[in-house]
Amino acid sequence: MSVEPSSPSPEIENLLAESRTFPPDPTFAAQANAKADLYEEAERDFEAFWAKRARERLDWSKPFETTLEWELPFAKWFVGGELNVSYNCVDRHIERGLGDKVAYHWIGEPGDTRTLTFRDLLREVSKAANALKELGVEKGDRVAIYMPMIPELPIAMLACARIGAPHTVVFGGFSAESLSGRINDCGAKVLLTADGGYRRGKEVGLKHHADEALASTPTVEAAIVVNRTGHEVHMVDGRDHWWHDIVERQSDDCPPVPVESEHMLYLLYTSGTTAKPKGILHTTAGYLLGTSFTHEAIFDVKPDDVYWCAADIGWVTGHSYIVYGPLANATTGILYEGAPDTPAWDRWWQIIEDYRVSILYCAPTAIRAFMKQGEAWPRKHDLSSLRVLGSVGEPINPEAWLWYREHIGGGRAPIVDTWWQTETGQILITPLPGVTTTKPGSATFPFPGIDADVVDGDGNSVPRGGGGYLVLKRPWPAMLRGIHGDPERYFETYWKRFPGMYFAGDGAKRDEDGYFWLLGRVDDVMNVAGHRISTTEVESALVDHRSVAEAAVVGKKDDISGQAIFAFVILRADQEPSDALAVQLREHVAYVIGPIARPKFLMFVPDLPKTRSGKIMRRLLRDIAEGRVLGDTTTLADTTVVDTIRENSGAAEE
Ligand code: PRX
Repeated sequence: MSVEPSSPSPEIENLLAESRTFPPDPTFAAQANAKADLYEEAERDFEAFWAKRARERLDWSKPFETTLEWELPFAKWFVGGELNVSYNCVDRHIERGLGDKVAYHWIGEPGDTRTLTFRDLLREVSKAANALKELGVEKGDRVAIYMPMIPELPIAMLACARIGAPHTVVFGGFSAESLSGRINDCGAKVLLTADGGYRRGKEVGLKHHADEALASTPTVEAAIVVNRTGHEVHMVDGRDHWWHDIVERQSDDCPPVPVESEHMLYLLYTSGTTAKPKGILHTTAGYLLGTSFTHEAIFDVKPDDVYWCAADIGWVTGHSYIVYGPLANATTGILYEGAPDTPAWDRWWQIIEDYRVSILYCAPTAIRAFMKQGEAWPRKHDLSSLRVLGSVGEPINPEAWLWYREHIGGGRAPIVDTWWQTETGQILITPLPGVTTTKPGSATFPFPGIDADVVDGDGNSVPRGGGGYLVLKRPWPAMLRGIHGDPERYFETYWKRFPGMYFAGDGAKRDEDGYFWLLGRVDDVMNVAGHRISTTEVESALVDHRSVAEAAVVGKKDDISGQAIFAFVILRADQEPSDALAVQLREHVAYVIGPIARPKFLMFVPDLPKTRSGKIMRRLLRDIAEGRVLGDTTTLADTTVVDTIRENSGAAEE
């Protein structure tokens, strides 16, 4: 994350006016979990608001004494309390008669399925925790997890939590080097992995990456390997154990170990401005409260809902809203191993129809990919079970928002566009589906108890209608507690830029009604002839055109205007690139936003370079736009994309 804004004058001009509004349906509002009075209650006394919920929602082995100790930038929540996360996510539901309720419906990409009830989950988690104990893992020891989307992944996380061993999950798409870097940073003692998984109809091997990583990780004493694909792998004698041996032979009785509220639950690594990823530190009680309460309030989760967060557990979205939040709420969830286009572009819609999924939470990238394929795919399926839709990870352009609402939500299901970060742990800016009148493309308002603001370069609140930097002005329960091993970097990255405030690294605007509009990372903001223009807005305008499926925009250095707008455009499947169309699209942006935003360059591309988490690599696009030599692309999901884009060089220029 960049924390240095590129210009001292931060006003961002939100030139795209989106005027349609969607009030909550009265029938939905009447039955909603979260009502408007939450905001008032939280504003009266935000500590009391969270403390009340911590007592009501979590099961404590020892009650806490102090709600919050806040010595900026270090927060301690629910001090003096003790509890166990896996007990709160599993055991207590069984004690209350929910042992036979399904915790996860798992769907493998090849079509195999597994169903785990909460009772099944308790058995598997307890056995896995006993296996970790056999390998010498004790409270406080770190465990690395490198797995595909299989049930053993959440089982492994809960097993760690059961014995107080913090985990670090490394997304299965990362390289051996990324894995060893993370293992060494946190000093993990054991690695839990698998032979491989399935993606786009192919076996994707993991164990060979793990082997390569473990060649340079002196702290790792043992590995447990799940047999997912049956692919032959090399097992190192004395170090490697098959899950079906070491876990299966364990007792299914493993008492949960109570830990202090501020005990480390996990580290999750995320990219920063330097080459070294940051180990974002999350702890126990505040995190579990923040994720479970937001999950219930924002997605309006009811006991018989079937909830699907279609992220990978390797990212924070999966940690908070596939594993901890939903399980603490005894929710039935979907876990899908594979790609959305395998075997065809209706795989998700088939799953929703088959399992009667009622809540879907996914990223705008996915929505735009589906849009590109056309509405015939979702139309083939009965999606009438859906009643709430969520969006996360990037600003959602109004066009995709409206498509999502119409073609997936049947024009009926409310959309919650949720803004948060790996660092924030829980959703912070979002509609409440039974309360908030939504505007397509706006994440609307801070969640009850959250104090968010938009400030100028001097940290002064920007009046309504203005843009600037998104900051948070008071602590919240699931906030990061630091960067592992680097308190200095923690302070510098998040707390130094604006004294007394957490700086999120995002640009935002508040409109005349007080709605928050996220405008992308501040380092993605262009400055064209003295006007600051968000890349997101130009992209949104491009995608608004009927021939465009997806677009990415960067600022290219320009002698006259400082920066010139360079647009990379993916057309919809039925469109042909042409010079005439390029002109038309540039004019379209000028029409929608104003002549200042007309891209000077526009290049048609078959795909966009994205990180494995689906974020467009704007820095790389900027390098391409400015003709610089390409840097290291090992974090690309598909490195051939870059070659393809380069082969398509010869941008249409003004
Ligand atoms: O720029 C914001 C964007 O994603 C960033 C956080 O990324 P990460 O830590 O990977 O977590 C993603 C999942 C929570 C933010 O700084 N972002 C996330 N959600 C939104 C968003 N931008 C706009 N609207 C959102 N709803």
